[in-house]
Amino acid sequence: MKNIKKKKIINSKNILTIIEKYKSPLWIYNFKTIKKQILKLKKFDTIRFAQKACSNINILKIMKKYGVKVDAVSLGEIERALRAGFKGNSDDIIYTSDIIEKNTLKKVISLKIPINIGSIDMIKTIGKKSKNHLIWLRINPGFGYGHSKKTNTGGKNSKHGIWNVKLALKLIKKYNLNLIGLHMHIGSGVDYINLKKVCKAMIKSAILINKKISFISAGGGLTIPYKIHDKKINIKNYYKIWNKSRKKISKFLKCPIKLEIEPGRFLVAQSGLLVSKIESIKKVKNRIFVLVNVGFNELIRPVLYGSYHYISILPKNNRKINKKKLIKAIIGGPLCESGDIFTQKENQKIYSIKIPKVKKGDYIIFHDTGAYGSSMSSNYNSRPLIPEILFKKKKILQIRRRQTIKEMLSLEDLIL
Ligand code: LLP
Repeated sequence: MKNIKKKKIINSKNILTIIEKYKSPLWIYNFKTIKKQILKLKKFDTIRFAQKACSNINILKIMKKYGVKVDAVSLGEIERALRAGFKGNSDDIIYTSDIIEKNTLKKVISLKIPINIGSIDMIKTIGKKSKNHLIWLRINPGFGYGHSKKTNTGGKNSKHGIWNVKLALKLIKKYNLNLIGLHMHIGSGVDYINLKKVCKAMIKSAILINKKISFISAGGGLTIPYKIHDKKINIKNYYKIWNKSRKKISKFLKCPIKLEIEPGRFLVAQSGLLVSKIESIKKVKNRIFVLVNVGFNELIRPVLYGSYHYISILPKNNRKINKKKLIKAIIGGPLCESGDIFTQKENQKIYSIKIPKVKKGDYIIFHDTGAYGSSMSSNYNSRPLIPEILFKKKKILQIRRRQTIKEMLSLEDLIL
């Protein structure tokens, strides 16, 4: 529990006020953190938010307010962007995918939404229906990188991106599509070795296409320090490396090139807290299980990738706790499934963490959960979705209310 201050984005008093008003469990996002993260990337010509990380329309609205554009990967995400005020007939929204379903196709054509194409099939589908459509090519450079195998989007084990650039170009010509940009997202998690490799691959692709375009996109994947000692990514250096590539491409193609970046996690992860309540403390042989009222239906990252989230304790009624008297505890949820444990590694091995002596009714807070937290949650075990609260300039705004059980059941009619 060292360095707890470093991770404090909202003070305990405010969190307790929020709990009092909206009850636990709930998500809290801190507006100031999101704004701060956006401003860190302002050197890029375009910041495009990968909304899959946190797609609440109010979060999208914050992005819009600060000039951030948006990426959409489904019809639902396009509709969310439109609701937040992003416009069609512009590059406000870009649709990125390896497939395009009928209804989505209709929408992107009618709103002239540029498409970032990840497969040869998609070129044909769009080409047949929408001449001169603005497109990007998402290229798989043959290698990738991710914090987990499941988030590596490059190389031959990844279903993403175009391998055969020559064939893509042939088809783009055949169908009269308007290629405006090249995109490379090799996965979630950045390291400088791979970054230089990606930049080289981008230059190579530009030389291969040898055609005037307007944009290149570095994709997303910027990491954030989840663990206390994790290093922050050096944005200056990241920009410098990409900007160098942009200049080379611009010189080769003899046209100005704009540089985009497409982060999800970097913009929102650190703004988010998942607040849960301790419902039971179970002693099993020499182990202590602390069970809270959220499960992997809310936060799936530890179960899916073995992801680490910093955990802090907020005592009920702000009572004093002895921070020196620690216990070793495994933190689990309410789901009827053994794997519903937040303290587990990628190999599914569970581990204990040291926490102060807690009581039933105290709160456990999962930090850095603003990205791929709420957006990946589900109704598993028939548990309704929980509220999302935005903390903005001391104001407490409910940006999604708690789902009711009635709402959850409303899609099903008793027909038998
Ligand atoms: N652009 C594209 C085309 C992507 O596929 C993604 C993420 C991003 C941008 C944003 O990546 P980010 O900057 O957030 O790392 N659920 C996983 C992450 C999966 C990311 C999928 N694509 C997690 O919780 O870590």
